[in-house]
Amino acid sequence: MSEKRELILSFESSCDETSVAVIENGDKILSNIIATQIDSHKRFGGVVPEVASRHHVEAITICAQEAMAAANVTYRDLSAVAVTYGPGLVGSLLIGVNAAKAIAYAHHLPLIPVNHMAGHIYAARFVKPLKYPLIALLVSGGHTELVYMRKAGEFEIIGDTRDDAAGEAYDKIGRVLGINYPAGKEVDELAHQGHDTFNFPRAMLKEDNYDFSFSGLKSAFINTVHHANQIGEQLNRADLAASFQASVIDVLTAKTIRAVNEYHVDQLVVAGGVAANHGLRDAFAQRLSELDHHVDLIVPPLRLCGDNAAMIGAAAHIEYQKHHFADLYLNADPNLEFTYQA
Ligand code: KG4
Ligand code: ZN
Repeated sequence: MSEKRELILSFESSCDETSVAVIENGDKILSNIIATQIDSHKRFGGVVPEVASRHHVEAITICAQEAMAAANVTYRDLSAVAVTYGPGLVGSLLIGVNAAKAIAYAHHLPLIPVNHMAGHIYAARFVKPLKYPLIALLVSGGHTELVYMRKAGEFEIIGDTRDDAAGEAYDKIGRVLGINYPAGKEVDELAHQGHDTFNFPRAMLKEDNYDFSFSGLKSAFINTVHHANQIGEQLNRADLAASFQASVIDVLTAKTIRAVNEYHVDQLVVAGGVAANHGLRDAFAQRLSELDHHVDLIVPPLRLCGDNAAMIGAAAHIEYQKHHFADLYLNADPNLEFTYQA
């Protein structure tokens, strides 16, 4: 007898991507429609919440229709509807939450609330099955967290950023280099053309915790550029980018690998928008290969590192199996933290 097909229709609208996906059994993407708003926000140098909400309203129904059509399924085939309900921009989250509720209500389907950050981690399921316990490094525009997962759906934050998130630091120094928001990808490309000549600080590297701090690095970078401007000196942009990136990578890899060793895990997941960074991906592969035991590195493919609904469907499937459903009073929670329910 063939295995039952569990199909989840998932929604993601926490920031500046409207996305709807259909996922089979938690690890197979039947469709993953992503409508990005980046062009509308670029000229403001960051995401404008009001503009984001309006775009979500315009795009979400079309994305849902496209996701269903591309997956070639009907609403009767679905097992559940899932949605990101936090963390994120409240107005943006509400659009996804209401769309998911409407479909769940109309088609008598269970509604699964998903934490956006859990979604980023579960994007790794599309690469290979997760084995617990594992460590996940979550690096995005709003978060830099080291997460210990003892089992599926259980998240313990063991390290966090004290100030700026890694992606936020990329976007801020990118601006100083004249690069449009979001700057991460271009800074990464520029970094590959330069060398680490500026020796920027490696914050909190020696400290006995798993926390991160990137605002000192950001300030050192900005001060270096301002000082050079004042005295009319021209600095090498590629070397600046390479030096910034080397500092970020050193700190992220050193702390994460220490956690991998101290928590005795065999799998490391690196996820979130900044996990698309080529320097970071290569550095993790290299440094893990130097360990005396094998640690499996799972980094989602580039298109699944940024915000998307496929990852929400992957995370939702874990909750589906535990029957963690919400009622139609589900609300957006912009500051949602990781919680765990057995
Ligand atoms: O996860 P994400 O798409 O959205 C949030 O949930 O925040 O992450 C977006 C962040 C932005 O700050 C962007 O600059 C950064 O990810 N990013 C990168 C790269 N690609 C995107 N940062 C460094 N290197 C990259 N290649
Ligand atoms: Zn994200």
